[in-house]
Amino acid sequence: MADPYPTCWLNGEYLPLAEARISPLDRGFLFADGAYEVVPVHRGRPFRMRQHLERFDRSLAELRIGNPLPLAGWVEVTNTLVAATSATELLVYLQVTRGMEYGRNHLFPPATVEPTGFAFVSPYPQPAQSLLERGLAGVTLEDTRWARCDIKSVALLANVLLRQEAQDKGGSEAILTRDGRVTEGSSSTVFIVRDGKLVTPPNDHSILPGTSRDAVIELAAGWLPVEIRTFSVDDMRSASEVWIASAGRGVLPVTSVDGKAIGTGTPGATWLSMYARLQQHLDAIAARPALVDA
Ligand SMILES: Cc1ncc(COP(=O)(O)O)c(C=O)c1O
Repeated sequence: MADPYPTCWLNGEYLPLAEARISPLDRGFLFADGAYEVVPVHRGRPFRMRQHLERFDRSLAELRIGNPLPLAGWVEVTNTLVAATSATELLVYLQVTRGMEYGRNHLFPPATVEPTGFAFVSPYPQPAQSLLERGLAGVTLEDTRWARCDIKSVALLANVLLRQEAQDKGGSEAILTRDGRVTEGSSSTVFIVRDGKLVTPPNDHSILPGTSRDAVIELAAGWLPVEIRTFSVDDMRSASEVWIASAGRGVLPVTSVDGKAIGTGTPGATWLSMYARLQQHLDAIAARPALVDA
């Protein structure tokens, strides 16, 4: 993307991102009162678009914020923003807040207040070859977030602090724990490979139901047994492989946790196969319409 400020979409209008403005009275700014999605575009096609949009709709419904666009409207916005760039590997960011009103009141504003809708694209941060060859370092931290992590809320302060703490301790992802069990990464789903099985925690209020999580589980079908269950930090430390998965980073191997090697301390054969399967899958579906699942 040559232009660092491509076209964005704000409340029904397309305009240069550098010119986009919202009010400082917006409840997204004052209270982090909103929800968001990050949709990856691979080979020019939004990946798992329907799942992202359904999760967006669900997050907004849980927050009791009206969705300003139907599913097809968000697809059109996404396709328009992608088409306005020359890139084929992108991240599309979608956000809706409860809108703005004069004053500052925790209670919901009157129904006449319109939600604020915003969308922009940015280049996909491709993982460096060295990262794929060596894997990344995870750092375990106590999960200090709220009790509704299943909602993709823009209130990300705990995630921000946890990710920074992991970075400060030499890691690239915070692996979050509650009462000795692993929940998820600060912005990713966690998988372990143990006894030849792929294990990931169940979707409940303590984790975000990940779109990449589901893609990985589907790609494992007929090849790798999958167990959806909680697992402990000790289970993770003694696993043969640990992975993280997210729309923004794909599926990546975690080769050390808290400075100690996982398995051989190099990306495992199972991850390598999953990574290759994901790339093949993205190639195979590249020409499908955006809303066909997968
Ligand atoms: C807290 C958290 N968990 C999991 C994920 C992975 O979700 P997805 O695969 O849909 O990106 C994310 C993505 O940003 C996240 O922020």
